[in-house]
Amino acid sequence: MTVMDLIKSRRTIKMFKPDPIAEGDLLAWLEAASYAPNHRLNEPWEIRMVGPETRARLRHKTDFGGAPVVLAIVSRPAATPFERDENVMAVSCFSQNLLLAAHEAGAGVYWASLGALPHNRDILGVPQDYDVIGVFGIGYPAEVPAARPRTPIDTRITYLD
Ligand SMILES: Cc1cc2nc3c(=O)[nH]c(=O)nc-3n(C[C@H](O)[C@H](O)[C@H](O)COP(=O)(O)O)c2cc1C
Repeated sequence: MTVMDLIKSRRTIKMFKPDPIAEGDLLAWLEAASYAPNHRLNEPWEIRMVGPETRARLRHKTDFGGAPVVLAIVSRPAATPFERDENVMAVSCFSQNLLLAAHEAGAGVYWASLGALPHNRDILGVPQDYDVIGVFGIGYPAEVPAARPRTPIDTRITYLD
């Protein structure tokens, strides 16, 4: 697949097969994700692998679609609000890289935002000065939804003098 095809065919997966993800594959996708752009090469991402007890305590509405792997991606603290925003931007790039690497391998990802809620931050053991980018269910898709159309991009472009 070309990068263009990979980007456009990736979907948020909400129902997974029970088939496991090989640990080596997951680590390879995470390692690829770490080539995301990040200012001053500070690599502000951290990954929390979510085990069965923590997963049950999160009480996600569909238990992440039955994904065999659940992990949280968090963004490290920074000295200033500006740098904290930059960290969140870099970790979002990291997350998208993970989504694309998994997709290229035929796997899929459910990006859930519940980890940012105060009680879920506690369950995940995330300190106040970290940002939760998401909790991600990862596995092989049982169902791939159709893409929802996007707004024509020319309506979002402003040309400055
Ligand atoms: C920051 C962020 C948070 C998201 N949180 C959720 C969520 O809590 N629940 C959910 O069903 N999807 C969530 N999504 C996935 C979006 O709903 C999904 O990307 C969107 O519907 C477009 O579908 P696609 O990813 O298949 O193109 C999130 C995506 C992002 C980037």
